[in-house]
Amino acid sequence: MLSQYSLAALLTALYLVMTWYCFRHTTVRRASTGEPGKQSYELVLGYASQGGTAEALAHQYASMLPGVTPTTVLPLNALTHQVLERSKKVLFFVSTYGEGEAPDNGLRFERYWRNQTANNLLTHLEFAVLALGDSQYQKFCGFGNSIAQLMNRQGARPMFEPVQVDRSDTQALELWRKQLTVTDLLSAGAANTLEAAEDQIGNSPGSAQWNLSDRRLLNAGSPGNPLYLLSFKCQGGLPNWQAGDIARIWPFDDRSQLPREYSIASVPDNGVLTLVVRLAQRDDGSPGICSSWLTDQLSQTESVRIDIRKNRAFHAAPEAQPLILIGNGSGIAGLLAHLEEQHSNSQHGHWLIYGERSPDCDRILDEQLTAWCATGHLDTLLRAFSRSDNPAYVQDLIRSNADQLRAVVKNGAQIMVCGSRLGMAPAVDAALSQALGSDTMQELATTGRYRRDIY
Ligand SMILES: Cc1cc2nc3c(=O)[nH]c(=O)nc-3n(C[C@H](O)[C@H](O)[C@H](O)COP(=O)(O)O)c2cc1C
Repeated sequence: MLSQYSLAALLTALYLVMTWYCFRHTTVRRASTGEPGKQSYELVLGYASQGGTAEALAHQYASMLPGVTPTTVLPLNALTHQVLERSKKVLFFVSTYGEGEAPDNGLRFERYWRNQTANNLLTHLEFAVLALGDSQYQKFCGFGNSIAQLMNRQGARPMFEPVQVDRSDTQALELWRKQLTVTDLLSAGAANTLEAAEDQIGNSPGSAQWNLSDRRLLNAGSPGNPLYLLSFKCQGGLPNWQAGDIARIWPFDDRSQLPREYSIASVPDNGVLTLVVRLAQRDDGSPGICSSWLTDQLSQTESVRIDIRKNRAFHAAPEAQPLILIGNGSGIAGLLAHLEEQHSNSQHGHWLIYGERSPDCDRILDEQLTAWCATGHLDTLLRAFSRSDNPAYVQDLIRSNADQLRAVVKNGAQIMVCGSRLGMAPAVDAALSQALGSDTMQELATTGRYRRDIY
């Protein structure tokens, strides 16, 4: 039998061995991963992208930047002040929307840094900006340039001047690769691989010739301008687009004009491409050029070229069910495409919260939506009418259904908003934040369960 002293010595030895093992184990882990939430980054790639081009570029470059660990690719809204404080270098891949504005996934980042006074908060940081844009817009690469200014204002050091890409200007992309090679971030071999891969980026699902096959007025007698459902038949095989994608149409099919963009309201399974177009009225009272051509003058025998632009920012997040679709006016187009796509995928039980003006004349697509309610494809259909005895907007319906919305979101739903950038979108955002809490909204946005197509 062991003596009391031997037992004590044995236990002490065992304790020392265990302590040594645990100490070694934790120090090794710390060295390799860092304390949770306290990693430092050699290089971070931040993107702000609506259509997905800048995002795809950021991911491609990340896969080609060797020897930089850990490399992180983040939407700008997730690139917080804390992450920047712990980063040595940042590459920004950003596009511009609206009139010189940020894409949705860069709005919060821009707002944050605009609200900071110039205070040399980022003097440790080096950065470079790849600004995607289109010189047909007045504020060419406006958001990319703003990012550079905001970083400069905090003492961050530009590795080189922002590189502005006019549409898919290959020379500008070449300059970007060259600058990254000169600054030793990119090897010459990787630059060549990236050049070959860039051809694949931003390719639209297709450009094809179409004929108008049906034109239906949806809101006869409405106090609003006439709203039409237009259907187009493809002259060849149907391109393969997704719900959320955008149709680009040139007025009178004249490519020298600025293209107009319309959310597509159907999916290829429908066999036609449909749009919901409102006849626009200009400030002087004259009709909009493209909308009056489409809703009035265009004949069924005329051939129309339609390009389809991929719009990843408004594709449905896979597996987040059901969809809570919110919108107003012609925004029904983008929401309808999602309902069609979900129907094709046998995913049912969605919500539609939709606002228009008159309950008598603007109950648009009522037959179809009522049928979807009957089969359960739509679990909940809520309509708001702003010109009724009991005037309401979609944001009011969000507030009055806050409890039910909280429950479906908690169970994994995603929220998709389509329609007016002014008025509806900020009011819906505020009502959702009130109903669900701003932390939940932030989490939904970061995980891709809050997506918008607003214009
Ligand atoms: C509705 C809309 C508004 C745009 N506004 C601007 C603009 O003000 N300035 C600009 O340079 N480019 C503008 N663009 C062009 C985009 O920035 C450009 O197509 C970019 O490549 C899109 O990149 P993304 O797919 O990453 O979002 C606009 C594009 C659209 C569709």
